[in-house]
Amino acid sequence: MEKIIFTAKPRILCVDDEPLNLKLFEAMLEPRGYEVIKAENGREAQERIAEHRIDLVLLDVMMPGIDGFEVCRRIKEDEKYRNIPVIMITSLKSKGDRIKGIKAGAEDFISKPIDHGEVLARVNMLLKMKALSDRLNFAYININNLTAFGEEVINTFNPITFDFLSKTDNIVNQIIRQTSDRFEKPQIVIVGLPGNGSDWLWYQYESILGKLQRNLLKIGIHKSLDVHRDNRRVDFYNSADLKKSEVLSFIKRFEPASSIKVTNMVCYLSHELCILALNYGRDLTAYDASVLNSLVMQSLFLKSLSTQIKEVEDAFAYTIYALARAAESNDEDTGNHIIRVGKYCSLIAKQIGMSEKFTNAIRLQAQMHDVGKIHTPPEILKKPAKLTLEEFDEMKRHPINGAKIVGDHARLTIAKTIALTHHERWDGSGYPCKLKGEQIPIEGRILNIADQYDALRNKRVYKPAYDHETTRRIITEGDGRTMPHHFDPQVLAAFKETTSQFEEVYEKLRD
Ligand SMILES: [Fe+2]
Ligand SMILES: [Fe+2]
Repeated sequence: MEKIIFTAKPRILCVDDEPLNLKLFEAMLEPRGYEVIKAENGREAQERIAEHRIDLVLLDVMMPGIDGFEVCRRIKEDEKYRNIPVIMITSLKSKGDRIKGIKAGAEDFISKPIDHGEVLARVNMLLKMKALSDRLNFAYININNLTAFGEEVINTFNPITFDFLSKTDNIVNQIIRQTSDRFEKPQIVIVGLPGNGSDWLWYQYESILGKLQRNLLKIGIHKSLDVHRDNRRVDFYNSADLKKSEVLSFIKRFEPASSIKVTNMVCYLSHELCILALNYGRDLTAYDASVLNSLVMQSLFLKSLSTQIKEVEDAFAYTIYALARAAESNDEDTGNHIIRVGKYCSLIAKQIGMSEKFTNAIRLQAQMHDVGKIHTPPEILKKPAKLTLEEFDEMKRHPINGAKIVGDHARLTIAKTIALTHHERWDGSGYPCKLKGEQIPIEGRILNIADQYDALRNKRVYKPAYDHETTRRIITEGDGRTMPHHFDPQVLAAFKETTSQFEEVYEKLRD
């Protein structure tokens, strides 16, 4: 794809084997605001085109070596240079030469001796056409970029980890001038985001050596900012209209004020985001405002989606917690037991290399492990003495009852498995199904050790509360009642690795 460049000074390559003619072109074109690059033969012409950005070629036909027709043909063959207009200059008026020139791809012809007025008129006209075709090309590139950006944004969208500031970095990366010769893009972008309270945070972006830099700006005068009070709007200002914009005086409040000089500007202003794109290397049109607007719209859409999904996730987490709390109202395990167990489970899950998704899910859903106790008579749950065999059998129904209560929702499969299997033991001595080894799902194996740790740390009718060290020893060495072979060796090893974190969780969340 050709690189499209706009500058205030169009650059014209003049190719002629006669140095005097080159001087004449220079004298004619430079005072009219054109920059002239000279080449004395076809080979040099090709070199100059490769070295410089060229907007138009004035090409002598009769040259020793590679002649003008051949130079023109080579320019038009190359996709990179094809849209540079070529005017051929010939002293021959023969129809054959013009046909040869058209076949080589030349846009126009001028006959020697040249007429200054004619040259200037044709140059001006072709440069206008070139600028239009460049704009069209630029718009095409922009549409492609916007589509690619949208695709990437959708593919990488994660509502939970969505971070609006880093998404804003991506937007700026799309629009900012990356190298010194991309004049169609803004040189500086300023972004404002609502901070805590009524203050906004303002960042200045600039690409330095191809790397995007973001700096927090200081505001000199702390008075209310009016720019984002209005409804959402997008405006553009060329240098002549800049003074009309209240944004310009706002920019002057940044410290040090003199560091930002504005030549033109597109601004997106709303109560949730402001973007000021400054110093495009060419005059602005409504098109530039639309490009910025469309990028911002994509991002704001994702922001609002993320907020809504996070709210639903919070409500889901709260409902799980509330249900788990309701179930333990008659139990001796109250207070923060269920929250601590969730945290221990996530420590082990992380330690044994489970995914982040699983680790987060088990932290939440482990809270429901004893939800089946809602059916266990309170006199059994609170009996201040050893349970009879019948009472213990009644107690042992809570895993199955729990699995029934949680039910079959796809979002609660871990909770259901945990409710059913958290009293199974690795050696097959657990309940309700006497599952053994890997027959017990991993979430059940993890919960078993987490629940045991917390039960040992707390006072029970049949035992005192143990300190961390005693609890660790009982789990890793056994006390006759709790034995190391009750636990999955991999889970036990993970417990040993994370034991200090278990202690931290307990201390932080003790009742
Ligand atoms: Fe239980
Ligand atoms: Fe428990």
